[in-house]
Amino acid sequence: MKKKLAILLSGRGSNFEAIARAVESGQIDAEIAVVISNRAGAWGLERARELGIEALCLPSRGMARDEYDVKLVEELKRHNPDLICLAGFMRLLTPAFIEAFRGRILNIHPSLLPAFPGLDAQRQALEHGVRFSGCTVHFVDEGLDSGPIVIQAAVPVRDTDTVETLSDRILEAEHAAYPRAIALVLSGAYRIAGRRVVHLKPN
Ligand code: GRF
Repeated sequence: MKKKLAILLSGRGSNFEAIARAVESGQIDAEIAVVISNRAGAWGLERARELGIEALCLPSRGMARDEYDVKLVEELKRHNPDLICLAGFMRLLTPAFIEAFRGRILNIHPSLLPAFPGLDAQRQALEHGVRFSGCTVHFVDEGLDSGPIVIQAAVPVRDTDTVETLSDRILEAEHAAYPRAIALVLSGAYRIAGRRVVHLKPN
């Protein structure tokens, strides 16, 4: 049976689209079972519907984190995903959520972690003056952008960069890195040794 992905997003959904393209091309051997957004107007939801993928909104506004995550876990369990991919999902997950899907949640972050976790990672990198930044796909644990790292890609920071131009360059790297990381994790060709995700096939 095909493996199932669930995608959580809050906005634009360009990483979701990159994942959908990789599913389409066969780079990722799985189907996208559901796309869930916590924001009604998320463009990613529209795109999912256009692509014929089940897309639903579970609005989070005004809800306590615990209460929201109970609903989210319930909804996700109905779809029985092998892997949950956070793709611009702008909410912190509770320990109960992490526990329900431990080792099966990935996130993409627009910096070379552990540098610049949290919001506005591209601005943080630019203001800090690093010469390279990039993106990180990592397993999600209870911390903020802190779980074991699956894949990273570096991009140069140019003297002429603005937050926008740097973000665009990083986003391009994200669109390549996320599908690769998902394919690797679904293939099972890795083992976790402490904080390290050791790849069992050359990449
Ligand atoms: C990306 O930069 C991702 O790294 C971060 O949120 C942004 C989402 O962009 N977590 P998109 O919605 O996938 O276009």
